[in-house]
Amino acid sequence: MLDDYEGFKEKIFKLTGIDLSSYKERQMRRRIDSLILRNNYDDYYLYFKALTQNTELYNEFINYLTINVSEFYRNPEQWAILEKEIIPDIMKSNNKPKIWSAACSTGEEPYSLAMMMSRFVDLNNFKILATDIDDGAVEKAKKGVYTQKSLENLPKDFVDKFFTNTGDKYAISETVKNSIEFKHHNLLEDKYPDNCDLIVCRNVMIYFTEEAKIGMYNNFRKSLSRIGVLFVGSTEQIILPHRYKLESLKTFFYKGNGQV
Ligand SMILES: C[S@@+](CC[C@H](N)C(=O)[O-])C[C@H]1O[C@@H](n2cnc3c(N)ncnc32)[C@H](O)[C@@H]1O
Repeated sequence: MLDDYEGFKEKIFKLTGIDLSSYKERQMRRRIDSLILRNNYDDYYLYFKALTQNTELYNEFINYLTINVSEFYRNPEQWAILEKEIIPDIMKSNNKPKIWSAACSTGEEPYSLAMMMSRFVDLNNFKILATDIDDGAVEKAKKGVYTQKSLENLPKDFVDKFFTNTGDKYAISETVKNSIEFKHHNLLEDKYPDNCDLIVCRNVMIYFTEEAKIGMYNNFRKSLSRIGVLFVGSTEQIILPHRYKLESLKTFFYKGNGQV
C-alpha cells in the first residue's frame, strides 16, 4: 500500500469534489493503488501532481474511480416487475410521472426507462431526468451509441424500433435521446430533485460506506412524491428500510412511508 492516503483523499476532494471518505476504503484504495502503479508512479503525491497537469491522466482517474459499467435492462426480471406492476400503479395516480435515473453512467439505464415508458406515454411529450457525477460518462450517454453486448437483455422490439445498426455499433433514436435530460449530479453533495414518482438508483450504493448510505437513503426518501418508488440494484436490498422511513414494496422496490 502507498503512503498518505488521507492526504491524497483531501487533495482529490479539493480537485474533483469527490469525497473518497464516503466510498468503501479497502476496495477504493486497492483500485486507486493499482491504477497509480500501472501508470508507473509509486507515490500519491507525484501521481496527484501529474493529475493536475495532464488531462488524459485526470480523465482516466475519474473514469476508473467511478466504475461506469452498465447495460440495458440490467437484471431483466426486475425490469419486468417495473413494467408490469410498479409503473402501472404509479400511472393510476400520475399519468406523466416524474422519473429520475440517479448515477446513470453512460445512459443505458435512463434510455431503458424511456423505451419502457414509450409503452405508456408519448415520448415526444415526456422527459426523464438522468444524472451522474462523471461528466465523461454523461457525454457518452448523450451520444447514445452502444455495442450489441450492452443490448442483450433489451426486448427485441425495442432494438428494432429504437436503434440504427451501423456495423458493430447501435445508435439510439433521436426520439429516445430527446426524452432524457442529462445533468451532472453528485449524490454526496448536491441537492436532490423533489417530488419524484420513480427514482432508479442502481449499482452505485454498493461502493459507499454505511454512513454515506444513511444520508443518501434519507435524501432519496425526501425526494419521493407521495406515491413515489425507489428502485435499487440487485445486490442493494436495503436492510431495515424503516430506519429511513422507507417501506419494502417488493424486493428491490421501496416506497416512502408517508413521513418526511
Ligand atoms: C456501476 S455504474 C451504475 C450505472 C447504472 N445505474 C446501472 O445500474 O447500470 C455506477 C455509476 O455511479 C456513478 N457515481 C459514483 N459516485 C457517484 C456520486 N457520488 N454521485 C453520482 N454518481 C456517482 C459513477 O460515475 C457510475 O457512472
